[in-house]
Amino acid sequence: MYTQSFNVPDGAGKTVPLAPSTEDPALQAAFDARIDADGRIEPQDWMPEAYRKTLVRQISQHAHSEIVGMLPEGNWISRAPSLKRKAILIAKVQDEGGHGLYLYSAAETLGTSRDQMLEGLHSGRAKYSSIFNYPTLTWADVGVIGWLVDGAAIMNQVPLCRCSYGPYARAMVRVCKEESFHQRQGYEALLVMMQGTAEQREMVQDAVNRWWWKCLAMFGPPDADSPNSAQGMRWGIKRVSNDELRQKFVDATVPQARVLGVTLPDPDLKWNEERQHYDYGQIDWNEFWETVNGNGPCNKERLATRVKAHNEGQWVRDAALAYAEKQKARSIKEAA
Ligand code: 3HC
Repeated sequence: MYTQSFNVPDGAGKTVPLAPSTEDPALQAAFDARIDADGRIEPQDWMPEAYRKTLVRQISQHAHSEIVGMLPEGNWISRAPSLKRKAILIAKVQDEGGHGLYLYSAAETLGTSRDQMLEGLHSGRAKYSSIFNYPTLTWADVGVIGWLVDGAAIMNQVPLCRCSYGPYARAMVRVCKEESFHQRQGYEALLVMMQGTAEQREMVQDAVNRWWWKCLAMFGPPDADSPNSAQGMRWGIKRVSNDELRQKFVDATVPQARVLGVTLPDPDLKWNEERQHYDYGQIDWNEFWETVNGNGPCNKERLATRVKAHNEGQWVRDAALAYAEKQKARSIKEAA
């Protein structure tokens, strides 16, 4: 209904016709040449089915992450410590909802409807970022999510502004600008808390201790265990690998932690002169996969909240559709 798609006809339901797609060698060669020349693929262009499928997988997972990502922080809107913090948090959570909408729209241009994607999320089949399955226990968690989670998201998403699929790349430009505000507001909130009482400083350190390792895992499995990376990079969807992005994040965050006055909870974290990077300790990949596979501390709660919100919004979608039908009938009558 609210789509910027070029392929999805008005009123598209569960099945959306795909643009004609044959695995024709000449078309494949033209596609490969465009990718090799760092060109962009647009919705009406021919593309291999596997490219289309990979994009729908990644963009829909990304969209789901944005809208599920509204929940842990949304829990704190009614408990924000001041009017200023509340206004900032409302704006941020709304931004995340907007990111979800741009991304669902970008995925729809590939011939998958929003209903299909949401069905995947609500049935528990579709993935979304592991990071949103952890609880937000104190107000400091809201600042740390801004600083570290949004900081990690920016690190991963800036290269996506150069993704080979045009609608995804263009959506990411605005998303990244907004994520940059999110990261800064989180860091600023923490700076203020760190200048407050000993109890506030402890609260920030505790939140950093709980979120640090989860943020490192957020970049995805190590390159050697990442089944989608090689092909994603060949197609220019992914530009920088999971491990490289993780390293960039660590390198950028250590000096920020120093300015803030917090300790990152990793005894192995130290500058490596030879590599010109920080070394860091072992990520708990078992815990990561448990969470990705639905067994993290908040997976069930997050999904239940999403499904409830979707069901409770049914009347809004029905009303909007009825209004659109009424408008259409009126314009047909006026034209007659
Ligand atoms: N959480 C859940 N699943 C994850 C994951 C994570 N942190 N990292 C990887 N996975 C999944 C992959 O989706 C893949 O599953 P699938 O094959 O069943 O689809 C599997 O683990 C193997 O991982 P790969 O490295 O092979 O997968 P990719 O090549 O797709 O790389 C990715 C994973 C780096 C997350 C990539 O898909 C990507 O860059 N996606 C776009 C960005 C995104 O989705 N970010 C999520 C956070 S959004 C956000 O934080 C909102 C902000 O407002 C804070």
